[in-house]
Amino acid sequence: MQGTIRVSGAKNAALPAMAACLLSAEPVTLENVPDVRDLQTTRKLLESMGVEADCGSGRMRHRVTLKAGQIQHSEAPYELVKTMRASTLVLGPLLARTGFARVSLPGGCAIGARPIDLHLKGLEKLGASITQEHGYVIARAERLRGARYVFDRITVTGTEDVLMAATLAEGETILENCAREPEVVDLADLLTRMGARIEGAGTPTIRVEGVSSLHGAQHKIIPDRIEAGTFILAGLITGGELEVAHCHPPHLQALLDRLQESGATLEVKADAVRVKPGPPLVSVDATTEEHPGFATDLQAQYMALMTQAQGAAVITETIFENRFMHAQELNRMGANVKIEGNRAIVRGPAPLMGAAVQASDLRASASLVIAALAAEGETIIDRIYHLDRGYERLEEKLKSVGGAVRRLGQLIRS
Ligand code: EPZ
Repeated sequence: MQGTIRVSGAKNAALPAMAACLLSAEPVTLENVPDVRDLQTTRKLLESMGVEADCGSGRMRHRVTLKAGQIQHSEAPYELVKTMRASTLVLGPLLARTGFARVSLPGGCAIGARPIDLHLKGLEKLGASITQEHGYVIARAERLRGARYVFDRITVTGTEDVLMAATLAEGETILENCAREPEVVDLADLLTRMGARIEGAGTPTIRVEGVSSLHGAQHKIIPDRIEAGTFILAGLITGGELEVAHCHPPHLQALLDRLQESGATLEVKADAVRVKPGPPLVSVDATTEEHPGFATDLQAQYMALMTQAQGAAVITETIFENRFMHAQELNRMGANVKIEGNRAIVRGPAPLMGAAVQASDLRASASLVIAALAAEGETIIDRIYHLDRGYERLEEKLKSVGGAVRRLGQLIRS
């Protein structure tokens, strides 16, 4: 592939940012919001609560203004939460703003059980009383009070949920063992613009001085590091010269380190990464960890590239218990991946052939697209609604740089 792909705003920063609008009665305007299904779902959820959403269209479709003047329904129904577990991000803001929240428990999902017990424990520490009835979490609090809370394990949306609640709690809150993801930092930036008093976002300890109310704000969402990483890997597996623009390379350091170790020729600029042709890559191990470690959301896409590297790469998944479903699909295309518990041994180079394969989750789908771009012959990827949740106009972006990709209903043909 040859040319330049522009990265969209980060889905996983826009989701909590949209939930944060519930904390204020004044309008919050977000720029650089990606036009993806999960955010459309979030907008519908917020509108069902009484939030006024003013979305741009055409060239302005990446801007949305949300005004939670009156919250009529402090509820997140099962019908919406089952399609997007990140809906639980409304729990903390609803509780802090209205003193009540009724949110469906998210079911499990393909990649793991993904409970929200640590979100609930944090909110209880802030004084919420929480019960579970008929598959819903019912949370009540007259007024949340600041407290010290240590997360049993690092959780990204858990940190975001409790952080948002703490901004309106009375007094000081100290959160420890917090997630350090850039999306957490971006949320803290937005909350600070809204008048919250937060220190330490991006470090394991976040200190919040509660305030009585938050005002409106404008905020530009950070670039999507996972989308950027996905395109860098697609550029490498297909050869050619590809510029992945409008990204923030420091957010991708763990991936870039491994790619440089594998012999990839990358030019890292201030807001872009340029992939250049180079010698065949050598296999390099990767272990997923919380940020700033190697992102679990890039594991599947990295595996696709390692099927073409020389040697054996050991990929260890430490965040989720079942995040190797793409491996069997890659093997159907000719890859040589052996799964042993939470480790995948990827031997290469294994020439890939087009095949009919099936997507299982958002990032597994991206892995199959990357493999399909390098495979000989045509690949049909079924269930690509997974892709549409987190990648904006993926096939157009890839086609614009020479990727032979076509969408056929729920299929992508490449
Ligand atoms: C966020 O999910 C991301 N989603 C995920 O991206 C990402 O894979 C994940 O963080 C890890 O980086 C959003 O930000 C919307 P966690 P989240 O809570 O917050 C366990 C994508 O592809 N845990 O950090 O749900 C949990 O089971 C998605 O865009 C508990 O046990 O992940 C997991 O094993 C997929 N109890 C681990 O912690 C809890 O209360 C990390 O999960 C919460 C989490």
